[in-house]
Amino acid sequence: MSYKRVNLVSSDVSVETLSALRRIIPEAFGENAIDWEKLRAVLGDTIDDRVEKFGFSWAGKGDAIKNVLLPSKATLRPSKEESVKFDESENLFIEGDNLEVLKLLQKAYFEKVKMIYIDPPYNTGGDFVYHDNFASPVKNYLQQTGQTDADGNRLQTNKETNGRFHSDWLSMMYPRLKLAWNLLRDDGVIAISIGDNEVHHLRVIMDELFGEENFEGHIHWRRRHNQPNDATKMIGLVAEHILVYAKNTVALKISGVGKVGLTGHFSNPDNDSRGDWASKPWKVGSGQSGSRYTITTPTGDVYDEEWMGEENTFKSLVDDSRIIFPNKGKGSPRKKYFKSEREEEGQSATNWWNHEQFGSNQDGSNLLFKIFGVKDVFDNPKPNELIENLISLSNIQDDDIVLDFFGGSGTTAHAVLNLSQDREKKINFIVVQLPELLDENNKEQVAGYNFCKSIGNPTTIAEITKERIRRVIAGYGDEPKPMNDGFKVFKLGESNYPENQFEFDPEKSEAENMKAFGEYLAKAKQVSLFDEVNTLDVIYENIVKEGFSLNASVEKSSIAGNIVWKVSDGEKQFQICLEKTIANEVVRTLTDADYKGKTFICFDSALDDTAKANLCLNIDLKTI
Ligand SMILES: C[S@@+](CC[C@H](N)C(=O)[O-])C[C@H]1O[C@@H](n2cnc3c(N)ncnc32)[C@H](O)[C@@H]1O
Repeated sequence: MSYKRVNLVSSDVSVETLSALRRIIPEAFGENAIDWEKLRAVLGDTIDDRVEKFGFSWAGKGDAIKNVLLPSKATLRPSKEESVKFDESENLFIEGDNLEVLKLLQKAYFEKVKMIYIDPPYNTGGDFVYHDNFASPVKNYLQQTGQTDADGNRLQTNKETNGRFHSDWLSMMYPRLKLAWNLLRDDGVIAISIGDNEVHHLRVIMDELFGEENFEGHIHWRRRHNQPNDATKMIGLVAEHILVYAKNTVALKISGVGKVGLTGHFSNPDNDSRGDWASKPWKVGSGQSGSRYTITTPTGDVYDEEWMGEENTFKSLVDDSRIIFPNKGKGSPRKKYFKSEREEEGQSATNWWNHEQFGSNQDGSNLLFKIFGVKDVFDNPKPNELIENLISLSNIQDDDIVLDFFGGSGTTAHAVLNLSQDREKKINFIVVQLPELLDENNKEQVAGYNFCKSIGNPTTIAEITKERIRRVIAGYGDEPKPMNDGFKVFKLGESNYPENQFEFDPEKSEAENMKAFGEYLAKAKQVSLFDEVNTLDVIYENIVKEGFSLNASVEKSSIAGNIVWKVSDGEKQFQICLEKTIANEVVRTLTDADYKGKTFICFDSALDDTAKANLCLNIDLKTI
């Protein structure tokens, strides 16, 4: 009889790396492991044996590399009440530590993501930097985010006086970037915002993880228009950095590189017979050259600027009803472009992005004020224009996925919702954000803290992210524009399976631990931890661990009076029944030809040995 246990953990990256290596160099494998000497022989001269070689290291790098390989035992629990249109939308918001979440997404989203944007803590000396704990990652997560009673161990500021100031930040980033690399498609792009403190280190680890041949550029973004008043430095800080890498620069160029400057939204307020249009400034951006002449608007305002084209071109565009003057005829002229012209109308990106075209932090803050009606709910949010342009630059297409695993106030989610509105099929986001506790005694967080309280929610950053997404979908501001869209909320949590909840005691020997584990399991079975099971939670733990998409469809049906859930993700499918005892009738039905070869999951104790033996002849049986 051959039936398996369900997968208890997320996919094991080391097993997958080995099988990929085995596919390309089968001769380097002995029985089930790499034969080092054979591998050396195959690789020949390319092995670098020198003691002194180029490389970048820090205290803890070895552990950071090992951390990537440890599968996650945790799970993701759906929260329908916090979602909007849970059953229709394919946008995902996941509340949790992004390392565990990225591990749980590895199988389902391996090489599926087109674009990743992240804006991690810059390590300025005042940031919280999450501390990973390899031994009990979920417990550590619950403690650091104040979800357990234990105090100690809460998120701590990484101060410059910490002897491992840079090392701790690098150890936090490295495994996350490696897991992000796995998720990117071959023609995928990653853009990372970063400040002066870590940009040089980030560049080196990105070269290591992505390959320096895939470095696409280093954008300097002027994030503020006014002069800073920090007198401690000779050079005023007005710009920050965005590093852009391709997963595979050749594949990216073949699939096509996107353009910037096209963040408008299509509509047809003047009933133009050519259909929906958006507009872009006729004035050139700073740093670009154009033609200088004066333009007088319908209200008589005069603009003397550098423009995108010659005066004759401008006149013919006016004759062709292609120029609009916003702000009731007072504003600087803009050129219309139609949906079909979307691609040609963009401009190639340079490594200098100014706040006029790509927005400033102040623009980000003003937008949040409009959405929440309260000032400073989140410190230094990115402006939508910046993220929308970075996403467009990746040559995003309908149905593509954009991932941001340092979600903050949800700017990436907002940008994706905006970019989706004019498309046949939507672009979808996956945004991850830690429920980082807001501190009412911190001047940068007190407004966010008070806001969460005022709407009766827990006082965490994740609550701000979710509330922003809900408000953007519902419509906000003086002229609300509700969107026909939604998002699913999931939360990182402890596994539903007793095996995964047992904690090994590092003080005890392996034999003592195994004995304790055996006793624990026997007891867990007796009291049946599944007595009060939340069906949907267990279904989703299987979805995650079997490597199905979180957008898999979950349908309730019944076989011979027992409730059976059918989970489908494209071609892949499994059925799951969480009854304590499975009726003989159901077993008989499952031996029908209709179920041949299909996966069926149930509690181990719900079937006797004869039923298991019969089922194994027909179906792929997995037990919990
Ligand atoms: C600089 S902010 C991102 C701001 C965002 N781009 C915006 O426009 O609002 C970085 C965010 O990452 C979150 N974060 C830090 N460590 C994390 C972790 N381990 N998992 C998930 N989120 C984390 C922080 O709580 C913070 O909100």
